[in-house]
Order: sequence, then C-alpha cells, then structure tokens
Amino acid sequence: MPDAYILGIESSCDETAAAVVRSGEEIASNVVFSQIATHQPYGGVVPELASREHLRAIVPVVRKALADAGQTYQSVDAIAVTQGPGLAGALLVGISYAKALAFALDKPLIAVNHLEGHIHAVLLEECRKGNHDLRFPVLALVVSGGHTHLYLAKRHNNSWSYENIGHTRDDAAGEAFDKVAKLLGLGYPGGPIVDKLSIYGDSRAVKFPPSQLKHRDRNDQKAGRTYDGLRFDFSYSGIKTAVLRYVETHDLQGSIAERHNAISAIPQPKLEDYLSHCDQQTLDLVASFQRALVEDLVGKTLAAARACHVATLFVTGGVAANQELRRQFESDAAREGISVYFPSRPLSTDNAAMIAAAAYPKFLAADFAPMDFSAEAGMVLR
Ligand code: KG4
Ligand code: ZN
Repeated sequence: MPDAYILGIESSCDETAAAVVRSGEEIASNVVFSQIATHQPYGGVVPELASREHLRAIVPVVRKALADAGQTYQSVDAIAVTQGPGLAGALLVGISYAKALAFALDKPLIAVNHLEGHIHAVLLEECRKGNHDLRFPVLALVVSGGHTHLYLAKRHNNSWSYENIGHTRDDAAGEAFDKVAKLLGLGYPGGPIVDKLSIYGDSRAVKFPPSQLKHRDRNDQKAGRTYDGLRFDFSYSGIKTAVLRYVETHDLQGSIAERHNAISAIPQPKLEDYLSHCDQQTLDLVASFQRALVEDLVGKTLAAARACHVATLFVTGGVAANQELRRQFESDAAREGISVYFPSRPLSTDNAAMIAAAAYPKFLAADFAPMDFSAEAGMVLR
C-alpha cells in the first residue's frame, strides 16, 4: 500500500487541533490547542466563543503541525478535516481552512466523521505498537462529552462500516461528569477533576440506584430495528438528578458556593487546591458518582459484547481517559475473554491525529470530498 502523509484538522468543539500522520500508523506531529481557559469562567463550552478561538488558532496550529512533522504545505499528500458531528460554527472554521488549503495546493480533500476518528484513534495506537492482529468485528464504545454510543465496526478491505447498536437516551457520560462537577462547584471540564478526586473518596459511601430505561427508544422504533434496543442503551440524566437530591437533602449548597468562589479565583487550580476545598463527604459523593457511572458503562457494554459475540472491544473518546473506567474494563473484560483496547490518554480526548488516521483508508479508496461539502452538526456514523 502506498505511503501517504495526511494533514488532519479538527475543530468540532473546544480544541483546535492539527496533526500529520503517515499511512494511518505513524504520528509525525500532533498539536492540540485547548480552549479550556476561555470557557472555564462560563462552566461549559460557549459555541460563539469556540468559533472565534478556532479562527484565531487554526493557522498557527496547522503551521506548527507541519513544522513539527518536518513537512510543508506542498509535501503532504492530502488534507483531512472533521465534517461533524459538533458545533456548526466551530466545524466551519476547520472545514473552510481545509478547503482553502486543498484548493490552493491542489491536494485531495477528505471529510471525516469525528466519531470515526475516535474509533481510529484506537487502531492508530495499536498500529504504532505493531499490533496488526485485531479480531473483527469490533464493538466500539465512543464515550465523550457529546456521545455515549456503541458501534459494531466492520472492516471490508480498505473501507469500514459502522452499525449503531446503542446510545444514550439523554446525557452523554462526559456530560454527566461535567454537570456533576459544576453542580459541586468543581469547575470545568469535570471529567479530569472527578477522576483525580475520586481516589480520595469512599466509592461505596453513597448508593445510587441503577439507571432504568422504561421505554423503547422512539428513533429505534422508527428505524424498525429488530434487536432489543433497551439492552444496549444508556441514560445518565437520572444520576445527575440523584447527586442534586443528595446535595439538597444534606445541605451542601453553602459549602459548594464557597468552593466555587475559591476555585474560580485560582487561575490554574491544582489537585491540592481542589482537595483543600473538599470535605470528606464531598469526596465520597464524587467517588460514589464515578463508580456508579463506570459500573453502568462497563456492565452495559460487556452485555452488548456478549450479545453480539464480539471478542474485541474498543473504548474511546474523552471519558476513556478515566482511570477507574480503564481499570474496570480491563478486569471485567479479561474475565470474559474479551480483549479491550484504549487509545493513549492524548489520543482519547479530541485531537487531529485520529482524523488523519481515519482518513487514510478513504485516501486509498480515493473517497474524496467535493469542494461544496459543508459542516454536519448532527452527522450520523454508518
Ligand atoms: O472526546 P472529547 O475530548 O470531546 C468530545 O468529543 O466531547 O471528550 C470530552 C469529555 C468531557 O466531558 C470531559 O469531562 C471528559 O471527556 N473527560 C473525562 C476525562 N477526561 C476528559 N471524563 C472522565 N475522566 C477523565 N479523565
Ligand atoms: Zn470527541
């Protein structure tokens, strides 16, 4: 197969990223400019601000990715960019820049689904390690701030197909981490903070009822699916409400307001800052929340893996960086003879190396995007 250096561009949410990847297996460069500092005061991503930050960052980020890789605009073989899903205005910045580059340089342009990128982050990681013996089909759990989706991923020579067999009915798992952290005055983004603080709490202190899915998903009914959709779906708005109830019934509002004010006054709070503003009850609550969510994610995903008779599991997306999630998946999957793979931490959260990697099979298949393609905020992966 011919070697190809692909420049990937990602701007779907709050990271402006560019990377150069050789033939879907070697990362020549991987630059991520995070907008966390911009959005932190608002406790979440502000779409309009995200677009403006992408505009500011995109040119220097792409230049750095090329320079780090020892490449130039002329030397790369193709330009790949995230088409969706994501924030429309944010996506448009990456897409417009990628189109302009492809047009001016007369290079092929490749449109990539962000979720396919997350799945290819795992393949990229395994290729880098020299592991080319994965068993297919693969069950992929994409678990991020916007998604908690299960896909059966199949490879047909150079092309891939994806069947969605489960998704969250309400909040995504990362969204639940972010909302609970905000609710407890811990700031944004919540996942990494909850991850670090949970080690200091008793995860059995607070009991959360298991999430219940009472109704069939309307979208599945419309699609006429025959499998039992209930079994593979997730729901995380209930646990967020349960944390809120706990806060109210245990009168934690005052201490939360103090913590919020203290932490937001620190420009870049460290673990010690969070710890010094959290009492044991709060640490126990945080650890119990994380444990309940992780147990649900792992239990439902493994049930889907059993039902679909797959022996290989990919866990990817921002929440895949979570230590407890990794530990639990590794131990529970091993017990069932299922191999589980994660991207490295930097490839778990949003990055452009995964976009350039996912573009390589499309490059080989000459599956190029027309110049008039546009952002698809709600893009579906098939
Ligand atoms: O994949 P990603 O970078 O962006 C989206 O496509 O959404 O995922 C971001 C999400 C956020 O909700 C963030 O809180 C969560 O991933 N996250 C984590 C961890 N690191 C990031 N959640 C739990 N534990 C972590 N260590
Ligand atoms: Zn993502």
